[in-house]
Amino acid sequence: MNRKIGGKALNWSELGFEYVKTDRRFSARWRDGQWDEGGMIDSEIMPLHEGSPALHYAQECFEGMKAQCARDGRVLLFRPDLNSERMKQAAGRLLMPQVPTELFMRGVDAAVRENIEWIPPFGSGASLYVRPMLIGVGENLGLRPAPEFEFRVFVSPVGPYYKQAGLAPIALAVSEMDRAAPHGTGNFKVGANYAGGLLATRKAQQQGASEALYLDAAENRYIDEAGSANILVVMRNGSLVTPRSSAILPSVTRRSIMQLAADRLGMPIAERPIDLRAEFDDFVEMGACGTAAVVSPIARIWFDGAWHVVNRRELGDDIGGSGTVGPVMQELYDLLVGILQGEIAEQYGWIREVPL
Ligand code: PLP
Ligand code: COI
Repeated sequence: MNRKIGGKALNWSELGFEYVKTDRRFSARWRDGQWDEGGMIDSEIMPLHEGSPALHYAQECFEGMKAQCARDGRVLLFRPDLNSERMKQAAGRLLMPQVPTELFMRGVDAAVRENIEWIPPFGSGASLYVRPMLIGVGENLGLRPAPEFEFRVFVSPVGPYYKQAGLAPIALAVSEMDRAAPHGTGNFKVGANYAGGLLATRKAQQQGASEALYLDAAENRYIDEAGSANILVVMRNGSLVTPRSSAILPSVTRRSIMQLAADRLGMPIAERPIDLRAEFDDFVEMGACGTAAVVSPIARIWFDGAWHVVNRRELGDDIGGSGTVGPVMQELYDLLVGILQGEIAEQYGWIREVPL
C-alpha cells in the first residue's frame, strides 16, 4: 500500500474552489420504500432518466463540509452531525426520504477514506471539500415526488472560495433580486435556491463584488445573507450580531462562531434583524462565514447606488482599496481554523476523526 495523505502530485496551495475529479464516490439508492446498503463506485457520471424530478422540478438537496488533515495525520470533520440533520430537514421539505445518520456518516467517511491521496496535507492551506447530495430520479412527468432517490457523496480538494487566498477582505453588492421568500425554502440547502442566485451573483461580480448580499424579501431592509455565506457584524458597542431571519441557511459555521465569540472572546452576542441602512454606521467589522467561505472579512458593500465602506469613520474612505482585516475577524478566523485543523482544543465535541 503506497496510499498516503496528499499522495497526488497537486500544487495544493494554488487550488481554488473548483471540481477536481477524485478516484471514488459513495452511492446509495432508495427504492420501494427503503435505502439499499450503498457503496463506493468509480464513475463520476450519473446515468439519469430524462424524466427525473431533480432535473425538472429541482427535487434536490445537498450539503457541504470539509475534511482537514491535522498535523499528526488524523483526518478531521467539523460537526458532520449538523450537516446530516440539515439534510434531513431539507429532505422533509421537498418530500424526499431522509438519509439516516448512519448512512450519511458511512458515505462521508468512505468517500474521504477512499480518496486519501486527494486530502491536502497539513499546512497546505487547502482542504478536502465533501459534497453529499440527495436527488429525485426515475421516470416521471407530473409534479409529484420521484419514484427513486440517489444519495451520493463526492469529494474534491479545494483552496479558498473567494479569489484572494487566506484572510483577505471581500466586497458584496446588495442584489435587487430576492433569494428567498418568507416561508419559502431559503432556510433549506436545496439547489433551487442557488439557480435563482446565479444571475444575482453575476451582476454583483460585474459591479466588482465577490458576490451578492440579499436583504429580506418582504421589506428589502434587513440583512439576510450572502449567496453562499451567513453574515456577522461587530457593532460599535462591541457585540457580535448576526441576522435573525427565517429565510437564511442555518450555517454550521455561523452557529459555531457565535458560540466561540461568547465563550472564548467574551463578546456579547445577539441574533436579531439587522437594518442595513439604519445601522450601517455602527458596523465596526463585518464578515461572511460558511464552510467554503470560512471567515471572510467584508470591506465594503454596494447599495442604493454607491459603495459604502465598513467602519469608514475609523478607516477612512478607501473605496478602491481592499480594506484591512479587523482584529475580531482575525481572531475568529484563527480560532475556527485552529479548531478545524486540530491545532486548538475544543470542549464541545465538534471534531470527528475519520476512521482511515
Ligand atoms: N448560506 C448559504 C446560502 C450557503 O450556501 C452556505 C454554505 O453552506 C452557508 C450559508 C454557510 O453554511 P455552513 O456554515 O453550514 O457551510
Ligand atoms: C458551502 O459553503 O459548503 C456551500 O455549499 C456553498 C456553495 C455555494 C459552494
